[in-house]
Amino acid sequence: MSEADFAITTPIYYINGDPHIGHAYASIATDIIARFKRLSGFNVHFSTGTDEHGIKVARSAENAGMDVRKFSDLMSQKFKDMTRTVNLSEDDFIRTTEERHKKSAQAFWKLLEKDIYAGAYVGWYSARDEEYVPESEVVDGKAPSGAPVEWMEEESYFFRLSAYQDRLLDYYEKNPDFIAPPARRNEVISFVKSGLKDLSISRNKFDWGIPIPDSNGHVMYVWIDALTNYITSLGFPEDTEHVSRMMENCTHIVGKEILRFHAVYWPAFLMSAGISLPKRIFAHGWWTHDGQKMSKSVGNVVDPFDIIKNCGLDPLRYFLFREIHFGEDGDFSHKALKDRTSYDLANDLGNLVQRVLAFIQKLDGHLTVNYNFLEEDEILFRNSRNLIKKMHSRIEKQDLCGALDVVWSLVSESNKFTNDMRPWDLAKSDVPRLNAVLTALCESIRAISFGIAPFMPDTARKIFDFMNVEGKSFAELENNFVSQKFPPPVPLFPREK
Ligand code: MSP
Repeated sequence: MSEADFAITTPIYYINGDPHIGHAYASIATDIIARFKRLSGFNVHFSTGTDEHGIKVARSAENAGMDVRKFSDLMSQKFKDMTRTVNLSEDDFIRTTEERHKKSAQAFWKLLEKDIYAGAYVGWYSARDEEYVPESEVVDGKAPSGAPVEWMEEESYFFRLSAYQDRLLDYYEKNPDFIAPPARRNEVISFVKSGLKDLSISRNKFDWGIPIPDSNGHVMYVWIDALTNYITSLGFPEDTEHVSRMMENCTHIVGKEILRFHAVYWPAFLMSAGISLPKRIFAHGWWTHDGQKMSKSVGNVVDPFDIIKNCGLDPLRYFLFREIHFGEDGDFSHKALKDRTSYDLANDLGNLVQRVLAFIQKLDGHLTVNYNFLEEDEILFRNSRNLIKKMHSRIEKQDLCGALDVVWSLVSESNKFTNDMRPWDLAKSDVPRLNAVLTALCESIRAISFGIAPFMPDTARKIFDFMNVEGKSFAELENNFVSQKFPPPVPLFPREK
């Protein structure tokens, strides 16, 4: 039987500034789900990358006094570096300036042509958001996002978005899980119900974009170019059957402020092009820093590279998804990160692993398995074997916090079990009982390491190595341990100096 397909994407990042915690957040979330699916046996395609065209990037290059191509190479590399630093397992890093993408975006445009007509755009534009802003939404020269707007009058091609209003509403109704979380879905539906206007999809007053086929001087509106990256990465325009199949199993992870592009414009484009729509679009919230919106001018942008240098990567990957529910806004503070690291990681998880495995070292490093369980061992054992199933139902809903909650209840249960069973006493009085208790605990630690593996891959790897577990697939959890010698463990989360 061939493996089931699963695709997942991060937004592609504008390269006008350095990567910050918001980018790392979207990327790590996507990575966690991709890793969970791979461990579950899916054939995963995980793509990320950089969004390099448009007026915003062109101006940033100009301000930096650099040629825009050189600027793009330099800045895109920083995002590529981020993918390594935050340990992404992406299958593809796509740049919209690549030749394969130009070919794909132009082929996609051709498929939309029946819905495209020439006209002129006269109105406001926010370069920071790369978005047209209706007159009614402009207040004091600013877009609702707070970005300044500028007046624009130019010839442009339009996409007949208005013709898709009913089809979109019908699609949302028939596919209630298409947009999540539900509150965001409702926002999208009311936006579409309020009436869709045709969308300007080309610019001809600058040239930093993908040229429109057979039309002199026009480049594509950066959002149509950017959204197309998802199918470029799947191999469009080659093998459109494969592209459609992967899209049907594709989840787009996006920030709440770009949901409209993904849940309204993108599905309308895909409907027009005859390509399957993605399975799910999930919008996450925004991080503030110590209660304030992060901004370059305030100088309070959280730099993921600094945090990782000071606190380590896995604690950050854990913190971001345990501290707040994925989908909601959250506030970043160094204190909260430190607290989570010392309580949940060093105290709860670190101690559990250390006390059980260090105890086994005292027995010559030998685990002598005994699956002759008493009822209390059996309960822990069952809960361990059911852990991934419980996580699965949460990951399917992108409930990353809920998935971590179920892992941590097993961590607490295992710590309590250790306290109650007192293996150090059993070692003196009842060795078969001791072996059953340690076997049940090794089962729970193994399950916990699989549970944390998508979130904290390096930490999980350390535990797998302490227990001679391969760690490649959740299916390994079905196998019983065999009696064997374990190597000595080292602390997982050394206390800060
Ligand atoms: N280039 C577009 C996306 C095109 S996708 C076809 C874009 N890029 S971005 O670099 O501005 O933003 C990328 C992602 O980072 C967005 O999903 C956004 O929500 C996320 N974040 C940026 N700042 C953030 C926070 N402070 N907190 C959480 N995520 C935020 O938009």
